Amino acid sequence: MCGIIGIVSLKESKKLAEMTVSALKRLEYRGYDSVGVASVSSSGLEIRKAKGKVEEVVLHKKIEEMEGYVFLGHTRWATHGAPTDYNAHPHTDCNGNIAVVHNGTIKNYKELREELESLGHKFKSETDTEVIPHLIEEFMKRGMDPFQAFKSAIKSLDGSYAVLAVISGERRIFFAKRDNPLIIGLGEGQNFIASDIPAFLPYTKRILVIRDDELGFVTPETVYLEDKDGNVVNIKERIRIVDWDIETASKEGYPHFMIKEIHESPRAVKDTIDSLMSDIDLIEKVIEEIKNAERIIIIGAGTSYHAGLYFSIELNRLGINSIPLIASEYYNVKNKKGDLVFAISQSGETIDVLQGIRMMKNNGAKIVSLTNVIESAIARESDYKIYMRAGPEIGVAATKTFTTQLASILFILSILKKDNLKKIEKAPDIVRDTISQVEGLTKKIGEELAKKSNIYYLGRGLSLPLAMEGALKIKEIAYVHAEAYPAGESKHGPISLVEKGFPVVIINDGEMTELLQNNLMEMKARGARIYAISVNKKMKDADVGIELQSEIPALSIAPVIQLIAYYAAITKGYDPDKPRNLAKTVTVE
Ligand code: G6P
Repeated sequence: MCGIIGIVSLKESKKLAEMTVSALKRLEYRGYDSVGVASVSSSGLEIRKAKGKVEEVVLHKKIEEMEGYVFLGHTRWATHGAPTDYNAHPHTDCNGNIAVVHNGTIKNYKELREELESLGHKFKSETDTEVIPHLIEEFMKRGMDPFQAFKSAIKSLDGSYAVLAVISGERRIFFAKRDNPLIIGLGEGQNFIASDIPAFLPYTKRILVIRDDELGFVTPETVYLEDKDGNVVNIKERIRIVDWDIETASKEGYPHFMIKEIHESPRAVKDTIDSLMSDIDLIEKVIEEIKNAERIIIIGAGTSYHAGLYFSIELNRLGINSIPLIASEYYNVKNKKGDLVFAISQSGETIDVLQGIRMMKNNGAKIVSLTNVIESAIARESDYKIYMRAGPEIGVAATKTFTTQLASILFILSILKKDNLKKIEKAPDIVRDTISQVEGLTKKIGEELAKKSNIYYLGRGLSLPLAMEGALKIKEIAYVHAEAYPAGESKHGPISLVEKGFPVVIINDGEMTELLQNNLMEMKARGARIYAISVNKKMKDADVGIELQSEIPALSIAPVIQLIAYYAAITKGYDPDKPRNLAKTVTVE
C-alpha cells in the first residue's frame, strides 16, 4: 500500500511542488518508508527521492524548489525491495525520460525484468515497479507513440496496480488501475490524480473514480479514459461532487478508521496472499525449517498472540510440537538449539516480542517473523522475514491485520500440508462475502452487548483463539468486561456467574458442533442469553444466531467478531479508533 499523486497544469510553477508536498503529507498514512517526486518542466524530467518520512525528504532534497507543469509524487510502503533511496519511487527508464509511480504488486516482474535485461535495459532498483518505465521505453523504441507504449506496458503486467507515468516533454499523465484505488480530481486549468480524495481535496471537490482495468491520460483540461475493452468512456456522467472535509475523506466516507479497515480486509487479504505467492521460495525454506525443528515456539502479544495460538493448535494437530507463548512471559521458556521461533507482530516493534526473540536467538533458536511493517525491529532481527503487507492500520485495535495474520498462517499451513492452493486463493472473496452478509446482524448484536457489563465468549479447538480475539476486541473498544473460555472448561467456575440474561457468545467453526451444543444448553439452562456464531453447521436454541457457510471458517469469523465489537463501541458513543489507555504499539516492558 503506497500513496501516489499526480498534478498536471497549464502553468509551470513552484506552486505545484508545494501542492505535491501537501498532498504527500495527506497520503503519508498509506506508507512512510520513502518519498519521491518527479517533475516535468521545459528543461526536462527531474527526480528527487530518498528514504524517510515526507517532512525529512522534502527538506533534505529541497523538493519545494522543484519547477514544472507536471508533477508525480509517491510515498512508499515497501513491498519488493527494502526501504532504501534507490528503491524509492519514481522509477525511470534507462535514459531518465520516463518516470513511474506505482501502488500495488507486479507478480510477473521477475520474468519481465529478465526479458528487458536481455534486451539491454539497465535496472537501478530491486522493485517490481521498475519494469514499467523500461517496458514503456522498449515499446516507444519499437515505434509506438507514448500512449500506445503505455497501454502495451500495462497489458504486459500481471498483478495489482494504480500506476502513473510521465514522459519528458509531455504535458499529460498516463494512468492505469487494477485492484488499487485511483481517483481523478478535476480543477481549473489543472487536474489531479491520486490514491485517495484527501490528496487533492483542498484544490477541487469534483472527482472521477477510476474503475478496475480502465486506463487513459490526464491533461490540464481533459481526461481521456478507456474501459477494459478499449472503448472510450464518456466521463461527464461519472463526475461527482464530494462535500467531505479532509478528516471524513481520509476515512473514505466511513465514520471511523476501524470500520474502514474491516471493510479493507478482503483487499488486504488479497495483497497478503499475492505477496506470499510471489515469495514462495521463502515460504518453502520456512517449511523446511519447521520440518527440521524439534519444537516450534510461537510468540506474540494481544491480537497477534491469538493468531499465534491458532497456528500452534494447527501445528500440534499435525504432530508438530508447538508452544504458543504470550510475549510478556517469554522468560518462562527455557529454549535451546533446534527450536524454531515464530514471532508474530503487526508493528514488528512490540518490545516483549523483541526481547523474547533476542533471548531465544541467544540460546540458539532460529527466528521467523511474520510482521506487517517492513524492516521493523523484529523483522530485522529474524532469520526469515515474512510480511503480511496489509497496508498501514490506523485504528488502534487490530482488525484487517488479524485477518491477514490468519490468512498468512493458513497459507503456510496449506503449503505444509501440500493442499491445493485453490482454496486459500478464495480467501479475499470469503472475507468479502462474509462482511456483506453480516453487517446488519452484527450491528444488532453489538447494540445488545453494549448494554451488558459482562460477557463470556466460548469456543473449542480452533474456535478458542477466535473467541479470545472476540472478547479482547469488545473489551478494548467498547469497555465491556468480556472473558473467553474453552467452552468445556466453562463448567469449572465461570458458569457460577450465569443467571437470567447473562450474555454468552458461542463461536463455532463447524468442527465441534455437538460438544458446543451441549455447552450452549448448559448455559441456556441457567438463563444465559445465547449468541451463536456458527459456520457450516447449525446450532439450536440460540437466542440470536449468525449462520454462515464458508470454506475457511476462521476468515469468516474474524470480521464478524470485529464488527460486533465496533457496533458495541459506537452504540456507547466511544471512539473505536482511539480506545482509552491503549497504544497501537507497545514499546515498554
Ligand atoms: C497493542 C495493540 C494491540 C496489539 C498488540 C500487539 O496492545 O493495542 O492491538 O494486538 O499491541 O501488537 P503487535 O504490533 O505486536 O501485533
